[in-house]
Amino acid sequence: MRLLFIGDVVGALGRNTLTNYLPKLKKKYRPQVTIVNGENAASGRGITEKIYKKFLQDGVDVVTLGNHTWDNKAIFDFIDDAKKMVRPANFPEGVPGQGMVFVKVNAIELAVINMQARSFMVDLDDPFRKMEELLKIARKRTPFIFVDFHGETTSEKQAMGWFLDGRVSAVVGTHTHVQTNDPRILPKGTAYLTDVGMTGPYDGILGMKREPIIEKFQTSLPQRFEVVEDGREILSGCVIDIDEQTGKAKKIQTILINEDHPFTD
Ligand SMILES: [Fe+2]
Ligand SMILES: [Fe+2]
Repeated sequence: MRLLFIGDVVGALGRNTLTNYLPKLKKKYRPQVTIVNGENAASGRGITEKIYKKFLQDGVDVVTLGNHTWDNKAIFDFIDDAKKMVRPANFPEGVPGQGMVFVKVNAIELAVINMQARSFMVDLDDPFRKMEELLKIARKRTPFIFVDFHGETTSEKQAMGWFLDGRVSAVVGTHTHVQTNDPRILPKGTAYLTDVGMTGPYDGILGMKREPIIEKFQTSLPQRFEVVEDGREILSGCVIDIDEQTGKAKKIQTILINEDHPFTD
């Protein structure tokens, strides 16, 4: 099974970049399942129902989220009906939405889990303990498990990768918006990448306009952050090959497209 994962789609530029490149990526890599992180899809903050539906229309099978899940209040109107969307599973019990979803990929069932780290982030439930809980449920149904671990620090993400080695097909990080150069298959068969990177504005700071951010670092005064709406674009993703007998990963390769790394067929 080949899985395509595309990192944090930021704003309208990110959505257009995805719409433009997804057919090309599908033609080149021929994935059977496509997963996209959409936590910044609406003006850099959260996601709306219209955007979620457009993702599915574009050929996305599952949308993952992160710490920006609740930033666009429209989320509360549709999150419980969005069967192909996951928000971090370690939000407190009773919060709307789901942290794990099962999708059919030909004859295979794939579990997709979204989990959020805690270092330099809000204090959610223990992601390691929550993973144990979800694994018990998931592994009764399938060994094909993909984890989007949304986190700030490399160490917490590596810890999760090693913690899950041999028990899930892949652990891929999101949130930092910068792709790391460490794709690998861990010894017991889990594909790992610390961060997949972002999709959208290439010349912003993590996709947002630069000036207010530089100003904030200089003055510590509050600033309004706005998403970059035009200009050069970047797309970041990865492709993972999973053994169809065992659910273990065989190969992981990163995808990075921008003016410095042009797309080739
Ligand atoms: Fe993000
Ligand atoms: Fe995030």
